[in-house]
Amino acid sequence: MKLLVDKITEIVGEAFNEAGYGEASCRVTHSNRPDLCEFQCNGAMAGAKLYKKAPIMIANDVVAKLSDRAEFSEVSAVNPGFINIRLSGEFLALYLTQMRADKVFGCNREEVPVKLVMDYGGPNVAKPLHVGHLRSAVIGECLKRLNRFYGNDVTADVHLGDWGLQMGLIIEELKNRKPDLVYFDDNFTGEYPAEAPFTLNELEEIYPAASAKSKVDEEFAKRAHDATVYMQQGKPGYTAIWKHILALSIPDLKRNYMNLDVSFDVWKGESDAKPYIEPMIEDMKAKGLAYESQGALIMDVKEDTDTKEIPPCLLQKSDGAALYHTTDLATLIQRMKDYKPDRVLYVVDKRQEMHFTQVFRAARKAGIVPESTRLSFIGFGTMNGKDGKPFKTREGGVMRLETLISDINSSVYEKSLESNHMGDEDNREDTCKKISLAALKYGDLSNQASKDYVFDLDRFASFDGNTGPYILYNIVRIKTILSKYVQGGGDMSDVNTIFAPYTDAQRSLMLCLTTFNEVMDQAYAEDAPHRICGLVYDLANAFNAFYNETKILAEEDEGKKTSYINLIVMVKDCLEKAINILGFDAPERM
Ligand code: ARG
Repeated sequence: MKLLVDKITEIVGEAFNEAGYGEASCRVTHSNRPDLCEFQCNGAMAGAKLYKKAPIMIANDVVAKLSDRAEFSEVSAVNPGFINIRLSGEFLALYLTQMRADKVFGCNREEVPVKLVMDYGGPNVAKPLHVGHLRSAVIGECLKRLNRFYGNDVTADVHLGDWGLQMGLIIEELKNRKPDLVYFDDNFTGEYPAEAPFTLNELEEIYPAASAKSKVDEEFAKRAHDATVYMQQGKPGYTAIWKHILALSIPDLKRNYMNLDVSFDVWKGESDAKPYIEPMIEDMKAKGLAYESQGALIMDVKEDTDTKEIPPCLLQKSDGAALYHTTDLATLIQRMKDYKPDRVLYVVDKRQEMHFTQVFRAARKAGIVPESTRLSFIGFGTMNGKDGKPFKTREGGVMRLETLISDINSSVYEKSLESNHMGDEDNREDTCKKISLAALKYGDLSNQASKDYVFDLDRFASFDGNTGPYILYNIVRIKTILSKYVQGGGDMSDVNTIFAPYTDAQRSLMLCLTTFNEVMDQAYAEDAPHRICGLVYDLANAFNAFYNETKILAEEDEGKKTSYINLIVMVKDCLEKAINILGFDAPERM
C-alpha cells in the first residue's frame, strides 16, 4: 500500500506540475514543526534556482493549485518558501480505514518471497548459554519474525558450536578423570553405553575446568587440540562422547530458548559441515586459491581497495584440524545446496566482523556463493553492566542466561505484589513472565543493534518510560477499556471503519498510527528492530495522551464514542502485531 507521505507527495507533485514547476522536487516529509503543520514540502526552495524565482512565489503558486483539494484542510506558503500542510480529517480516516482493511496494515510486503537462511543463536554445546548469546537470540528472533511478516521464506538455523576445541578439552579432561572408560580403549569394538558417563551439571563443570587448565598447562592444551582433531576425523570412542555431549546439551538449550520464546527451524551445527570440508579444500587447491603457509593451508582474501589489513582465511592446520573459517565456508556449501537462498543473514557479536568479511570474500572467490545471493552480517554490540564493562555476575563471573532470566522474573514478581491488578496467583506468575520477557527483549531491541548498551534491570522493568512493561501497560489498558465497553452492552462486531477525529488528541493518535507501515517498512529494509521499538513507543505515548484527555466510555455522543472505540481497537492490533514481531506478548491484565 502506498505510504501516506508518498500519497501526499504525489498530490503535491501534481500541483507543482500544474503550476509549471514540474522539474522541482516535490518531496513531502513529516513536519519538523508539528506545532505548525503535519507535513511539509521544501521543494520551492530548491526550485528557486531552477526557475530563477523567489521561493515564496513558487510556493504561493503551488498552494493556489492545492487550495481546494479535499485531502487537505489547510495548505499554506510560509516564508521563505515552505509549503505547510494539514490533512483533512476525512482523508486521514480514509487512509487508516484502508490500512485497517489490509491484513498487514499497509506494510509493503515482498511480492516475490526472498528465500532467507538465518544464522543466529550460535550457542556452544557443553557450555551454558551466557548473556553473550542473549543478543543473538533476541535480535535474530525479531528479524526472523519481521522477515516472515514481510512475506519471506525463512529458515532459521541455530548453528551450534559443536565441532571446536571445547569438545577436545572436555574429552581430554574426561580422560584424565576417568581413564578407564571404554571410550578411551582403542581396542574396544563393542557397542558404547547408551548412558553418558557424566551429567549435564558435571559437563558444565568439566568444560570451564579444562579450559582453565589449558591456559596454564601447555601439554594438556596440546592433547586437547589433538583430541579435537581425532574427534573431527571420527575416532569412534570420541564420536561416542561427542554424541553424549550433544544429547545432554541440546534439550537444555531448547528449554532455555523456549523460555525466551526463541525458536529455530533447523538444529544443525558446525559438525554438519564435515562432509563438505574435504571436497571444498581440494577444489580450492585445484583452483589455486588455497596454499600452504607456515604449516597451515590459507587463502588470501585481501583486495586492492582495502584500507585496512584483511588477513587470509585459515582453512586447515597442518594436522588437518578444521578451523572456524573452514566450518563456516563448508556450511555455506551445505546451505546453498539445501536451500538455494537469496540471502544468508548472520546475527553475531560485532567482534566477529573480520571473520565474516573473510568468510564472505572467500565464499565469493571460491564460487561457493554466487553474486545473486546476498551475504549479510549484523554485528551487535556488547551488553554491559552499570560499570560500563561486559555484564558479569556479582562475583565477577560469566552470568548464565538462566540466572539472568530468573533474576528478572523475581524482580518483576516482587514488584507485582505491590499491585492488586495482577489477577489471582496463577495468572500472576504467567503475567510476570510476560512482563519480564518484555523488559528483557525491549531493553535490548530498543538500542541500535551495533551499539553497546547497559543492562539496567530497574530501568528495563519500570512501568514508566521507554520500556517493554510501559508498552504492555498501554495495551492492557486498551484491553480493559474494551472489555468494559462490551460488558456495558457495547457492540464490537464492526470496528473496521475509522472515523474523522473529533479532538486534537485523537487526531495526533491517528497521525501516529498512519506511520505504522512507513516505519515497519524502514525497519525491514534496514534490519533494524530498534525502529519498531521507536514506533511502539510513539504509539503508546500517543495513546496515553489521548487516554488522559478523553472520556471514552463515559462519552454520551454515540458517534464520538464509536470513533474512539474503533480507533483504539486498531491501535491495540497494531501494537500487538509490532510487539509480536519484537518477540513478546501482552498479558490480559497487569
Ligand atoms: N558459536 C559461535 C560463538 O559462540 C557463534 C556462531 C555464529 N555463527 C556462525 N556461523 N559462525 O561465538
